[in-house]
Amino acid sequence: MDTSSINTLFTGKFLMQLNEIDSTNNFMKLWMSNNKPIEGAVIMTYKQTSGRGQLGTSWQSEPFKNIIMSLLYIPKFLPVQKQFYLSICIAYSIYETLKEFLPEKLIEVKWPNDILIDNKKVCGVLIENGIQNAVLQYSIIGIGLNVLQEYFFNLPQATSMKLNGYEGDINSVIKRLFECIEKNYLLLKNGQIQVLRDRYHDVLFGKDKLMKMSDLKNEFWGTIRKVLDDGSIQIETSNHIRTFYHKEVIFFL
Ligand code: BTN
Repeated sequence: MDTSSINTLFTGKFLMQLNEIDSTNNFMKLWMSNNKPIEGAVIMTYKQTSGRGQLGTSWQSEPFKNIIMSLLYIPKFLPVQKQFYLSICIAYSIYETLKEFLPEKLIEVKWPNDILIDNKKVCGVLIENGIQNAVLQYSIIGIGLNVLQEYFFNLPQATSMKLNGYEGDINSVIKRLFECIEKNYLLLKNGQIQVLRDRYHDVLFGKDKLMKMSDLKNEFWGTIRKVLDDGSIQIETSNHIRTFYHKEVIFFL
């Protein structure tokens, strides 16, 4: 990938491309233990052998077909209680990138930061923050975006850009992804969270729609109303508003 064609100030300017690695998030941590952190540094791989998903799950991605990357930001301007702002920023940026390439498609963000095309997951995000003195010292933003993969073994809810009509290459997506992420990250840094929060809610899967869901014990009908700044979600049920944290509620795709 020719980084000079990427129109960013710092995102992706330092780019390491590895043929094969266990997990780009792990490798970023290892790299940081031996090097001074560089804001906007990216590690990408063609083949990830132990990709990690949220809360201990794994991430499968066919070699050479998809974007598998970890981006390092140094958001020292964010206190720990506001770390979810970064999730909002990244999820919305991926949404924006995909919408540019597939304008006719229904693209949504599924709380907290999955990206869906027509109710199927096209992208997952794993953000790992380093916290010290109650502020974010660094954030490793792992992104797995399915671009060209056409077959998903045992993953009926997975999809890719190609399965939705995308005919271009991976590098064009990477370039726009870096540009969108940096633009929105700079908005966040400049205190424009309200803009990002509104946009995130505008594209939030299931918002204001009555849906069947589960709280891990019982199924119930509810309506997503709002995602709060601490990352929890508020759901209106027949008699009251319930608040859930990540993985405490499941939406059916
Ligand atoms: C999820 O939806 O569960 C999150 C998936 C995150 C996958 C990406 S791929 C690049 C980076 N390295 C990892 O090991 N995981 C993230």
